[in-house]
Amino acid sequence: MALETRPLHIIILSILVANSIVSATADGQKLLRLGRWWPITEAERQKAVELSNFAVDRHNKLSRSNLKLMSLINGTVMVLGGTYYKLLISAVDDDAPNNYSALVYEKSWQHNFRFLIKFDKLANLLV
Ligand SMILES: *[C@@H]1O[C@H](CO)[C@@H](O)[C@H](O)[C@H]1NC(C)=O
Ligand SMILES: *[C@@H]1O[C@H](CO)[C@@H](O)[C@H](O)[C@H]1NC(C)=O
Repeated sequence: MALETRPLHIIILSILVANSIVSATADGQKLLRLGRWWPITEAERQKAVELSNFAVDRHNKLSRSNLKLMSLINGTVMVLGGTYYKLLISAVDDDAPNNYSALVYEKSWQHNFRFLIKFDKLANLLV
């Protein structure tokens, strides 16, 4: 029962120290990742899915097509004066699903500023 006799302020202090180590590590990782492509983390996955939907919608408007996002297969991210997302997605048009790669830019200081840089259909390697 040693734990229960430990003063509360020591426990709180250790939690605070642990938290600041975690955030220092997160900042360090952000710095390490600056200017390089990295696989998206679990935490970035929801954003990447949101941007995949954005990419498909934007592509549909620009090319008058009617794609629907099926899934995000893979994504990499690069932070460099904003954030670039390279997304490998599966989308379906009227007949069959296909894979597409999308490159999306988002200003990190203005989260609703997004820009679709590229959207390409990938060759079906099975054909
Ligand atoms: C996702 O992309 C990364 C970086 O290109 C690659 O290393 C990894 O193998 C890919 N994963 C899948 C499941 O395709
Ligand atoms: C899409 O990519 C996935 C993962 O690389 C692959 O397994 C699948 O066969 C691809 N689909 C098409 C239609 O090319």
